[in-house]
Amino acid sequence: MVEPLISAEISCEENPLYEQIIFDIGSKGFSIAEGFFTNETIVALRDALVLKHEANRFKKAAIGNHLNETVEKSIRGDKILWIDEQQANTTECLFFEQINHFVQYLNRTCFMGIMYKEFHYALYPTGTFYKRHIDTFMNDDRRKLSFVCYLNDEDWQPENGGELVLYLNDDGIEIPKTIYPFPGRVVIFESQRIEHEVKPVHTERLSITGWLKTR
Ligand code: OGA
Ligand code: MN
Repeated sequence: MVEPLISAEISCEENPLYEQIIFDIGSKGFSIAEGFFTNETIVALRDALVLKHEANRFKKAAIGNHLNETVEKSIRGDKILWIDEQQANTTECLFFEQINHFVQYLNRTCFMGIMYKEFHYALYPTGTFYKRHIDTFMNDDRRKLSFVCYLNDEDWQPENGGELVLYLNDDGIEIPKTIYPFPGRVVIFESQRIEHEVKPVHTERLSITGWLKTR
């Protein structure tokens, strides 16, 4: 009996969600995707975040590059924990499996040349925010795509604050785009072009944020 090359076939199949994301990024510089991860994965990632936060593993996020880092509460107030793929737990492995699948797709269909990635958990305590910024500023110009996945509770309400605002540009006219951090929602945008901010948070806000990077 001849074994069919199932995995090879599947990996070359068109993925409608990924195609939509690629189209969105190409046409407007960002994409909002629902269902990138399963609900079970989102719930498990949220539980993992909460446990690690309770174990005091999060640190106040800094600004600037690794050599020149300062904690500036007037600019950003979130707490973060970097996720090491080599040390990933079962849930984090599921997360990276999806991410790697997506990166392979981007590199195969769009020649994006993504070589590296980095991801951290983020927790915004009530009252915190992240002022308007660009993800490559003073930091890392290899960052190509910013990736945010929200891990908030199922009953997250717009009144909880913490909106992501992207400052889009249409022929010199600035158009702010407000995005609510509903659980499971994934936002992907061009790191080098799109200024954005996180509005003040009124209820603890949970996410994973990361970057897909070129050489
Ligand atoms: C960041 C960031 C956006 C968000 O961490 O650089 O802009 O919605 N996050 O959490
Ligand atoms: Mn950012």
